[in-house]
Amino acid sequence: MTKLIATVFDLRQHVAIWKAKGETLGLVPTMGALHAGHLSLVRAARAACDRVIVTIFINPTQFNSPQDLAAYPRTEAADVALLAPLGVDVIFAPPPDQVYPTGFSSQITVSGVADPLEGALRPGHFAGVATVVAKLFGMTQADRAYFGEKDWQQLQVVRRMVTDLNIKTEVIGCATLRETDGLAMSSRNARLSAQARSAAPALYAAMTAAASAITTGRLSSDMALKAAENALHQAGFAPVEYLVLCDGETLQPSTDLKRPLRLLAAAWIGGVRLIDNIAVTPVS
Ligand code: PAF
Repeated sequence: MTKLIATVFDLRQHVAIWKAKGETLGLVPTMGALHAGHLSLVRAARAACDRVIVTIFINPTQFNSPQDLAAYPRTEAADVALLAPLGVDVIFAPPPDQVYPTGFSSQITVSGVADPLEGALRPGHFAGVATVVAKLFGMTQADRAYFGEKDWQQLQVVRRMVTDLNIKTEVIGCATLRETDGLAMSSRNARLSAQARSAAPALYAAMTAAASAITTGRLSSDMALKAAENALHQAGFAPVEYLVLCDGETLQPSTDLKRPLRLLAAAWIGGVRLIDNIAVTPVS
């Protein structure tokens, strides 16, 4: 039976009982508006841990504008209904003052990996993410926490923070779930018009074409990225904010095929900002 909990006090009581019995605890942090991608994280947690906590908290400190925060979909009843059949033990959906009590004045900033790409375009975003994730780790004492690879830079930022701050929670990255036409699953896809939705798979198609041209040596990385950017403009994406080949861990630009490389993109279609990323692995 899934319990819906709103206070840190109640959450801690459950956690204390489970920990006393030596049970392992898996955490899936979310901001709600759940889709199949989130549910795959929950299934991964369910398969590996004795207890599963899903948090639903629309974290105000990671939004760049009050308008963005206000526009974020709030679908708690539907989210709870989606989670109930998956054997989740606790859904923790706190009000903001449970997470940020009066006088709250602490922040975790991760530099380096958090600086480029999303960090440069959305100042303060990753400080908001790192701070709330550290708080959720502290509140739940989770043994493992599950994050989607869809937000690749976020995953690297959380990994960096956990290493740097000696946090015991193990961070598990789970593969991006895609629609049959390749579009990465995202809460934002619901905002796409029919026309934008039919053009949106061009993002993944352009990225996979570029990755293949680079790994087979058919094109230099510069030429492959240029071709991909042209393909995106042709499909109606504007602007393309970034389409870059990076070291998968540091997020620094790299073309060193001996390192785990990642191709990351952010681009707008029909007024909706989409992000995606894929591995660029040499063909052996
Ligand atoms: O990926 C998200 O949904 C959020 O950034 C997270 C990790 C739940 C923190 O608010």
